[in-house]
Amino acid sequence: MKELLTIDDISVSYGNIQALKHVSMHVNEGDIVCLIGANGAGKSTLLKAIVGQEPLVSGTITYDGELICHAKHLDPTAGGKRRKSHSPTFTTDLIARKGIALVPEGRRVFADMTVEENLDMGAFMVRDDALIAKKKEEMYDFFPILGARRRQKTRSLSGGEQQMMAIARALMSSPKLLLLDEPGLGLAPLVIQDIFQKIAIINQEDKVTVFLVEQNARMALKASNEGYVMENGRIVLADSSAALLDNEQVRAAYLGE
Ligand SMILES: Nc1ncnc2c1ncn2[C@@H]1O[C@H](COP(=O)(O)OP(=O)(O)O)[C@@H](O)[C@H]1O
Ligand SMILES: [Mg+2]
Repeated sequence: MKELLTIDDISVSYGNIQALKHVSMHVNEGDIVCLIGANGAGKSTLLKAIVGQEPLVSGTITYDGELICHAKHLDPTAGGKRRKSHSPTFTTDLIARKGIALVPEGRRVFADMTVEENLDMGAFMVRDDALIAKKKEEMYDFFPILGARRRQKTRSLSGGEQQMMAIARALMSSPKLLLLDEPGLGLAPLVIQDIFQKIAIINQEDKVTVFLVEQNARMALKASNEGYVMENGRIVLADSSAALLDNEQVRAAYLGE
């Protein structure tokens, strides 16, 4: 099986806070992989690092056989000090062009824009207007509620509808790898189920590889093939999601059993 995303020994710091400590993990092409962990574990930081929004202090990130992020080496011209801006290998924009799309935590929709305008934003790097129109129709078919509300301001949508729109916006660029940061956050259980069903279809029918971050461990493990558990910036467990659902430690700490 091909590794689409390989994270090797990465560390990320915010000043004195080391949010990620030598994290290694991988996502195979075609899989749904989940990362579970409590609030503050470092899950969002990992997703931001993948899309080039947080610089690495150590390690590398490889996507589709290509190095996309690495820690900058010590700069000899700065007297051996680390350069101030150790920017990622590729910019966030270039990483998006390579086929990685992130649906950020809290959805970050443009509330004053209509549904349609939000989807247009997701297609910022698609040049072909006919293709954009076709993708939008696909999204309206797949999420009928968005079709019905296409000319409404996004702020009038429910939380679940906004989450669907955030996912649709990410799909506008036809990504190969979809990163989802807590798609179930703040939503009712039935709405979360709906969203996870959509994620399964996107994975199975559109062949999009999914890397899913969740505090809702049960939903995430049921929806995925492989899983990782993060605590305090470290990966503490890695196994098939079925095995993690059965794992004593996971059951006690994350499934409330
Ligand atoms: N922009 C930031 N500045 C300083 N500290 C941050 C920032 N973002 C996150 N952190 C800290 O990094 C740690 C990991 O945060 P985060 O990746 O958001 O965790 P999670 O997504 O698992 O809740 C936490 O201790 C958090 O307070
Ligand atoms: Mg988070």
